[in-house]
Amino acid sequence: MPVATAAVNIALVKYWGKRDAALNLPARGSLSLTLDALRTWTEVTLDPALGHDTLILDGASQTGKPLLRVKAFLDILRAQSGVKTFARVASKTSFPVAAGLASSASGFAALAVAGAAAYELGLDARTLSGLARRGSGSAARSLFGGFVRMDAGRMPDGSDALARPVVGAAITLSAAIAVAGSGEKEVGSTDGMESTRESSPYHRAWLDQVDKDLHLANAALRGGDFALLARITEGSCLAMHANAMAARPGIVYFKGVTLWAIDRVRALRKSGVPVMFTIDAGPHLVAMTPPDHLDTVAVALAESPEVQRVITSAAGEGAKLIDAMPTEVAR
Ligand code: DP6
Repeated sequence: MPVATAAVNIALVKYWGKRDAALNLPARGSLSLTLDALRTWTEVTLDPALGHDTLILDGASQTGKPLLRVKAFLDILRAQSGVKTFARVASKTSFPVAAGLASSASGFAALAVAGAAAYELGLDARTLSGLARRGSGSAARSLFGGFVRMDAGRMPDGSDALARPVVGAAITLSAAIAVAGSGEKEVGSTDGMESTRESSPYHRAWLDQVDKDLHLANAALRGGDFALLARITEGSCLAMHANAMAARPGIVYFKGVTLWAIDRVRALRKSGVPVMFTIDAGPHLVAMTPPDHLDTVAVALAESPEVQRVITSAAGEGAKLIDAMPTEVAR
């Protein structure tokens, strides 16, 4: 019974738009940082006695959309392996799922690693990243640790839409996440990016900007240019949200406290703390800062009563197989 663990990642240069929705191919590349503290553990057990796949998430048996997404992913593994057996999937997470904290990234990265082992596919990490991508685009990046680059690729079959680690980064970042609500978001990222692609007048401009941002972010990382990395990261985040807001109907992931947190990060930076922010498809701001400034940033973000809690995390490792499921997970 293979068990895998994977951490979420946060994109500095964002993925927002697909070139092929069926194969889940991103329209452009992206760049992320894997975060150690937000993590999923998944065990996949093939059982010939099962008449269908099952999913237990944090102790609760799942039906509906979460189960359907996992079934569709297991169908890919069955098609690739020729093994038709159904599977029992059990997952634990160290954070609330579906609140915009990138749970699909760690979830599908862990499922890809444990599932590929259960169906004996024998894939390397890069190929596993392409497999994880079928579950969720951002999951491809969680196969690797530290800073990770996802390539959009050009092949129609997606065989070159894979992630790889960034080598030679001269900047080390930790993260402080200002958790701004625990409810499920109204528009998931898959639906949000499709409706943005179909209806936002800014989508073309957004796509044109991503490659430039990737190039500059890479140069900033390798050259240790924190100010440039902050400019590109915040620019990519705000452009992604501006694009989503310009969809019809507009998609607004920010809450009031999100704007407060943006101001707070910028005030900190003005006062000399090296810090930058990004925000995914949800209201939570993620501040990134070198490890020795993490406490200062976390304390500052906790100042607002609307910030429910601040989760801090160092950079993390890529997804991997482990011996057994953890008995208890601290949240
Ligand atoms: C805003 O990877 O969740 O977090 O591929 O449809 O599952 P699907 O989308 P998903 O989208 C992530 C969007 C983002 C930006 C990013 O992580 O790059």
